[in-house]
Amino acid sequence: MKVYLDNNATTPVAPEVMDEMAGAMKIFGNPSSLHQFGVRARHIVEEARSRLAAALGCSEEEIIFTSGGTESDNLAIRGALKNTEKRHIITSAVEHHAVHNTFNELGKQGYELSRIGVDSNGVLVAGELERALREDTALVSVMLANNETGAVQPVREIVPLIRETSPGAVIHTDAVQAFGKLDFNVKDLGVDLLSVSAHKINGPKGAGALYIRKGVKVKHLVSGGHHERNIRPGTENVAGIAGLGKAAELAVPLKAGVIEKMKSLKQRLIEGVREKVDNIRVNGDPENTLCNTVNISFNNVEGESVIMMLDMEGIAVSTGSACTSGSLEPSHVLKAMGVDPVAAQGSIRFSMGKYTTEEEIEYLLEQLPPVILRLRKMSPLEG
Ligand SMILES: Cc1ncc(COP(=O)(O)O)c(C=O)c1O
Repeated sequence: MKVYLDNNATTPVAPEVMDEMAGAMKIFGNPSSLHQFGVRARHIVEEARSRLAAALGCSEEEIIFTSGGTESDNLAIRGALKNTEKRHIITSAVEHHAVHNTFNELGKQGYELSRIGVDSNGVLVAGELERALREDTALVSVMLANNETGAVQPVREIVPLIRETSPGAVIHTDAVQAFGKLDFNVKDLGVDLLSVSAHKINGPKGAGALYIRKGVKVKHLVSGGHHERNIRPGTENVAGIAGLGKAAELAVPLKAGVIEKMKSLKQRLIEGVREKVDNIRVNGDPENTLCNTVNISFNNVEGESVIMMLDMEGIAVSTGSACTSGSLEPSHVLKAMGVDPVAAQGSIRFSMGKYTTEEEIEYLLEQLPPVILRLRKMSPLEG
């Protein structure tokens, strides 16, 4: 049996999305060309924009297509800062590297950083944010849901606080993991900028978008032509954009009960592991994490060994974000939550997708306990 439980790293492309992309690839015109070939390609791009806008709850003019979540985050943060003299910027301690490392670099360039801590469930400490906000704060970037733990951040709640204390500060949220798994719309959230990525919602890799609230200014990061309202030059990735549009349409939250289904699978997974394996810690409050994400620390085992042994049984899981796996550094996310560094080494992320079935979770629950048992027997840490 093959069981893919690494959907926060990437998701399988939906067959409907493949069809849409195959159709788009036959329309080879340049969307900027004035002839019929170009007009047909333009039509595909604009149709995708309209689908994505409908899924996010904004207007078409507020969507800029990019090459993915990483570019959207960079464009949001660096592009917004190009329009202000203010030098104080705020983020959380648990951001994805696309935001985390962007802030690190900005710090080296002389920006003053405030990194807001999280509680033991990985949720931003609002009081700390309140104390950090200043009149000269240029930008606040707090993710909507975390990729490693699924912890959902109180973005909607902090927006009024930021507006009141730091009027003029641009508010960005990385919604790459939240999109399709959390019921939200951008107007409700009240943010200025929001990043999404196609490959996390059963779309293709290398396509994403940035929502830019009407009136908010973001400057291009690379120079070129007038594409995407001068904000993101370069001939559009027409097929990728078509795939993103279709995937967004399919992912409209709650559609087909996918969220409800994943919630019950998540509950079963947590209960099953608790029943069958002792000495574990579920990272994040299951009531406040994404419907598809479960992060568990198994004491006295190495996460990498668990991955390898489950892989031999056909089960794909992960230790954290796909970008950090392979590094032996404990995850900055679990560290910020105060998870013991040794326990953090034995942390596994199980992330389900819309195609995950009950049988697959039951198979995992059969295979996982003996794997942990075997590894613990070999561990010098086990008394
Ligand atoms: C929260 C978050 N932000 C940004 C990204 C980067 O997205 P992309 O892979 O499309 O560049 C990811 C992907 O892992 C993510 O989980």
